[in-house]
Amino acid sequence: MSDSDDDDDVPALSAHTLAALQEFYNETTAQDESSTPGDQFAVGAVEEDWRMSQFWYSDETATQLAEEVVREAGEGGRIACVSAPSAYQKLKQGVVDGADRVSAVVLEYDRRFAAYGDDFIFYDYNEPLSLPAHVAPQSFDIVLADPPYLSEECLSKVAKTIQYLSKGKVLLCTGAIMEKCAKQLLDVRMCSFLPKHNRNLSNEFRCFVNYPSRLLSCRGASTSD
Ligand SMILES: C[S@@+](CC[C@H](N)C(=O)[O-])C[C@H]1O[C@@H](n2cnc3c(N)ncnc32)[C@H](O)[C@@H]1O
Repeated sequence: MSDSDDDDDVPALSAHTLAALQEFYNETTAQDESSTPGDQFAVGAVEEDWRMSQFWYSDETATQLAEEVVREAGEGGRIACVSAPSAYQKLKQGVVDGADRVSAVVLEYDRRFAAYGDDFIFYDYNEPLSLPAHVAPQSFDIVLADPPYLSEECLSKVAKTIQYLSKGKVLLCTGAIMEKCAKQLLDVRMCSFLPKHNRNLSNEFRCFVNYPSRLLSCRGASTSD
């Protein structure tokens, strides 16, 4: 067996060096001229890391959520994807009608998404209002958020961020068990739409909205019907 085949090899680099190398690799991969413009924005282009509670939407769900936020943001609208990088990627992939007529940012804890340049805003829900000065209050037409943990503590902090960012419309994706807490914090209603993930999750996931959305009555498939 060659060295590269041996899974038992332990890298002889420090965690810090490995992290720096990983960051460099991600940035150079994202900028690789041989890849087509859409590739760097493919859902899954950044691999899931379960240590950061990362569970990516299925491609179809990412598309449906991107379609929804484009529809609701309107012409020239601004969209914030909070801890929901797949929806951001789908908006940028060039496959959703109207996505070229909105702008989007991704607020993320995982610095691998810094490869998306100025669209990336570092975000740690533990510091819900520690945002760069250029991120003005109530400056996004719609905020889509998918908090990393199913706890009241996490949702209440993410809700502060959402309320700071949003002009009004909120699309929250989280576990169905968070329904009561989400209603109290953000006055959102559970949708019939069922978001799907690339891997099967043990928790039932749902979307919640505070506006009259077509996701309220549609279960899946195309929302453009
Ligand atoms: C349940 S996943 C939601 C991802 C979504 N399903 C998607 O496909 O885009 C939670 C997200 O929270 C992010 N995250 C992890 N720790 C965080 C933290 N401390 N603050 C903010 N976001 C965090 C993860 O990187 C991940 O993107």
